Amino acid sequence: MSFDLGRGRTLDDALGAIGITTGPGSELPPLPDAAMSSPRAGQFDPRAWFKDPTRRFEIEIGCGKGTFILETSEHEPATNFLGIEWAREYYLYTADRLRRVQAANVRMLHTDAGDFLRWRVQDAVAHVIHLYFSDPWPKAKHHKNRVIQHRFLAEAWRVLIPGGELRIVTDHDELWAWDREHFDVWTNPDRWTQVPQQVRDLWPMPSKPFDELAFTPPAWVGEGQTVATNYERKMCVDRPPHACVLKKRD
Ligand SMILES: C[S@@+](CC[C@H](N)C(=O)[O-])C[C@H]1O[C@@H](n2cnc3c(N)ncnc32)[C@H](O)[C@@H]1O
Repeated sequence: MSFDLGRGRTLDDALGAIGITTGPGSELPPLPDAAMSSPRAGQFDPRAWFKDPTRRFEIEIGCGKGTFILETSEHEPATNFLGIEWAREYYLYTADRLRRVQAANVRMLHTDAGDFLRWRVQDAVAHVIHLYFSDPWPKAKHHKNRVIQHRFLAEAWRVLIPGGELRIVTDHDELWAWDREHFDVWTNPDRWTQVPQQVRDLWPMPSKPFDELAFTPPAWVGEGQTVATNYERKMCVDRPPHACVLKKRD
């Protein structure tokens, strides 16, 4: 299905500049066979994809049409941003927007963000993971597709630097209730045993992996908005969305 986001124009993901090459000559080599027995075998440091890998590094999961990553990268030129989008047309659309403004501190990857964190990303590389207006998958049989899962929180915790932040915004009440149930466990040592043992066995996490903080909108966001994504501008006109920050304990 096409959304005709290019309105007849061919969208250019500027492979090797904005888009991460995953085919021949790939910047993301195939997952090694050893990854099946040794999950860390395919992990690397994605900061190496940027001209200056020593800079602060942030990841946005599910960029959609890309307004947030475009604006935040313009306002924070000393930070490197990696946008991950699994819908090909949205990935292309966002990469094309970034190419046209000649963004030098942003790259886009077309893949499933949960799988990418799990199999590809080394420990303690990201200062922030942004997750804004994630798909709610309302039917019970689809809840497994929601980004927020215990497994995802374990991987996000691992990938964040100490003191790093997972920032979440949603306007979907039922998804927020789901998120809250997960966050309460991940911020509360009394409830920690509710995390499945196989997830707790993955990484040497403390019994209180995150502290929950209030969400502060970025300084560049206009009055009455939280993150000013495309979705928020279009859909959140009557009431502000839910938002919070999970900060990895130092
Ligand atoms: C409701 S849209 C919101 C887009 C944008 N964040 C905004 O607020 O305008 C959710 C986006 O997340 C993408 N997405 C959902 N799950 C994903 C995943 N596991 N990995 C990468 N992208 C994902 C979808 O393709 C979609 O573009």
